[in-house]
Amino acid sequence: MLSSDRSLPNTGHRYVPQITSLDIPPSPNQELLPLTAKVNSKDNLSIGGCEIQQLVQQYDSPLYILDEFTLRTACRQYRDSFNTYYSGESQVIYASKAWSCIGVCRIIDSEDLGFDVVSGGELFTTIEAGVGKEKIYFHGNNKSTAELEFAVETGCTVMVDNWLELKTLTQIASDKSGQPVPIMVRLTPGIECHTHEYIRTGHLDSKFGFDPNQLDEVFTYLSQQASLSCIGLHAHIGSQIFERQPHQDLGEVLVDWMQKAQGYGLPVTTLNVGGGLGICYTESDDPPSISEWVKAVSTAVENACNKVGLALPKLMAEPGRSLIGSACVTAYTVGSRKEIPNFHTYVAVDGGMSDNPRPITYQSVYRAVVANKMSAPITEEVTVAGKHCESGDIIIKDAALPETEPGDVLVVMDTGAYNYSMASNYNRIGRPAAVVVYEGEANLIIERESYQNLIERDRLPERLVKHKK
Ligand code: LLP
Repeated sequence: MLSSDRSLPNTGHRYVPQITSLDIPPSPNQELLPLTAKVNSKDNLSIGGCEIQQLVQQYDSPLYILDEFTLRTACRQYRDSFNTYYSGESQVIYASKAWSCIGVCRIIDSEDLGFDVVSGGELFTTIEAGVGKEKIYFHGNNKSTAELEFAVETGCTVMVDNWLELKTLTQIASDKSGQPVPIMVRLTPGIECHTHEYIRTGHLDSKFGFDPNQLDEVFTYLSQQASLSCIGLHAHIGSQIFERQPHQDLGEVLVDWMQKAQGYGLPVTTLNVGGGLGICYTESDDPPSISEWVKAVSTAVENACNKVGLALPKLMAEPGRSLIGSACVTAYTVGSRKEIPNFHTYVAVDGGMSDNPRPITYQSVYRAVVANKMSAPITEEVTVAGKHCESGDIIIKDAALPETEPGDVLVVMDTGAYNYSMASNYNRIGRPAAVVVYEGEANLIIERESYQNLIERDRLPERLVKHKK
């Protein structure tokens, strides 16, 4: 499987939506549905052995449907690929910002991956999921003192981002006598990559990490702190990246910095190349597979170490999107339709920018199928609109679909990463439920927010209770 996979392996039973009637060439590379997707005898889509239409009847819509098999497969691909291509020790940690909830953490923990958390809330979630402190790495460019205290209390590794944090952490760590606090230093590598400017982080003009010009000063400072143990270096260059070269370059730069850090007597033996591997949202997306990406990074690090005669570091990566993005779909119910002659036909669904803010935020492109009409001919190109009071609330601008009618179930694919985690209550719409499906069983991992949930933290000052017109 390692040699032929793309972002996920083609297991042979992956459903590939066929675009038939429009002038859009079908692509053999379409791998947009989760691995367990099938079409049953009723022409209905099922995932994880569960029929989507039935799931919507039972749990209502919009509904996030997470395919456990696809998620586990991606975890194993990362782990197995490092074991295959890297001769030293390795560790893959899940960037839980992609989707943080206890159920997801539990699945990923059981695959023996670690966790990247970026807030007290994500740290709390992983701990509640039972993840061990040695598997948790705490990121963030502006961690509060309370968050740093929480991190030190849990015993996780802190990814130090800037001077304020370094000084605050030194204070917290020296007040608490005991083992030195394990830290890694995040650096801005100055590596450009081609992705949306909001999700690029490695270029020098970035809010994340220490500037490489500060390396000597940081390493000197760290070599004098008994309460901190700097075990490694980290950099992350961006997200949804299709090229391999930037991560290969990053591997080399990190090895260079590791050598420098060791020159200061620091116990730096771990390098973390961040995440960033892209996935296929459309048939024209062409990211390297997980194994190709791991091979490229591993080879770059090994070669760089061999060149200067350094022992291989423990090599870490922290993917988010490429672990969970393709494992989830969002099911919506089709509602109103508006046809504007010579312009667009709008098909509205019962969710939108509150459950998937990516199209309006990054102009992200998604693809959809109609779950209850899987083999119906594709006859039109429509604009799939959300239900929010905002013209920009468009989920898909040009969806090639069969003719839809109210009540149909529209499935938007590859919504596992940065959908639930970026969801909001805009227009006081409750966030959807999420179910995990596996071998014919569906289980709730997140409950739908009710009207009551929406107001339960509202408070009314006494003077407004009394207020009368
Ligand atoms: N490590 C660090 C330090 C990160 O900042 C990120 C993502 C990752 C790892 C994981 O990157 P991934 O493998 O998922 O590409 N909301 C945006 C994506 C923001 C990514 C933020 N950092 C989106 O919806 O595209």
